[in-house]
Amino acid sequence: MKTIDELLEEGVEGKRVFVRADLNVPLDGTTITDDGRIRAVVPTVKALADAGARVVVASHLGRPKGAPDPAFSLAPAAARLGELLGADVAFATDTVGESATATVAGLGDGRVAVIENLRFNAGETSKDDAERGAFADQLAALADLYVGDGFGAVHRKHASVFDLPARLPHYAGHLIATEVGVLKKLTEDVQRPYAVVLGGSKVSDKLGVIDHLLEKADRILVGGGMVFTFLKAQGHEVGSSLLQEDQIPMVQEYLKRAEASGVEFVLPVDVVVAPGFPDMKTKAPTHPETVAADAMPVGRMGLDIGPATSELYASKLADAATVFWNGPMGVFEHPDYAEGTRAVAQALVDSPAFTVVGGGDSAAAVRTLGFDENTFGHISTGGGASLEYLEGKTLPGLAALED
Ligand code: 3PG
Repeated sequence: MKTIDELLEEGVEGKRVFVRADLNVPLDGTTITDDGRIRAVVPTVKALADAGARVVVASHLGRPKGAPDPAFSLAPAAARLGELLGADVAFATDTVGESATATVAGLGDGRVAVIENLRFNAGETSKDDAERGAFADQLAALADLYVGDGFGAVHRKHASVFDLPARLPHYAGHLIATEVGVLKKLTEDVQRPYAVVLGGSKVSDKLGVIDHLLEKADRILVGGGMVFTFLKAQGHEVGSSLLQEDQIPMVQEYLKRAEASGVEFVLPVDVVVAPGFPDMKTKAPTHPETVAADAMPVGRMGLDIGPATSELYASKLADAATVFWNGPMGVFEHPDYAEGTRAVAQALVDSPAFTVVGGGDSAAAVRTLGFDENTFGHISTGGGASLEYLEGKTLPGLAALED
């Protein structure tokens, strides 16, 4: 994989460089609530602009349906990128139309433009190779060179991620190089004990990674909504908690495999429950209660791991040498159910281990709860991407940069 350092050595002055970033940030209206992904691509964009390139930054945001939708405009992200760069950033109001063509043609050396959300064009995510290829051809006309730096999207076989690099000389940006370097430490020569904390709502999203980690990790700690499928699989009452009944046989098989292979599978000993899901608009106080994980009352919904579990998990992380964490332990966005996630984040901070926070919700949780990002070994910008990397899958956006 050629990197941006080689490209900078070759020289980029006056060249149009397409940077595929992941600017898919959470928005409240037009307000960015976590700009971590925009900050993460700044080193690449800045290095190229400083070297005199004409930088065309592109990304998806959300999941629009292949047509323009103002709710998913990249305009707020472009404005934030300009603030972080301390420079004017031009914005094209389409992807490959008149605005994009004119904006790129008008770029001076060392200047930056952002084009509108790539998913406003159906060709970006199409399953049809020809349709994706046609969009990639149009994108290729905007640039001379391609830099892949949208780590959060490398698991997607999309036009700008997979097909476009085949059409232009291509390089990995600083972010992708860093992310891959860190994830390699979790897959090759991992320092032991290796503990993995998995949370989030759906066990079905984590099956692949659990399957893989049963061969690799020493301890797997489980929290979040997916916990209730595990507790049910052990024959416990889970009240009205989130449950994926169809996953129970698979979960039972994993628990058996863990026992046979000596992997310590750690489940909560207590959970925080409420009569129902809290109002996330008002975040009004609720009536949380802590109960034993094997004695949840009927009609109660589990929304966080309990304090005894937090203590247990902290003790399982204290002597680990490597920790990977993906997925919150509870509904951390509501103050009544944030303690479990906060406790796990604190345990990572306190542990001498090399700690990696796998992107998406857990990265947002760390920042929302006010932790200093520098106290973690690495906070990934890719949730699904980092999980698929750990599963050992071939990621289209990385494979495309290899050859
Ligand atoms: C993410 O948020 O994980 C990435 O930006 C990819 O987004 P997607 O899941 O909509 O493809």
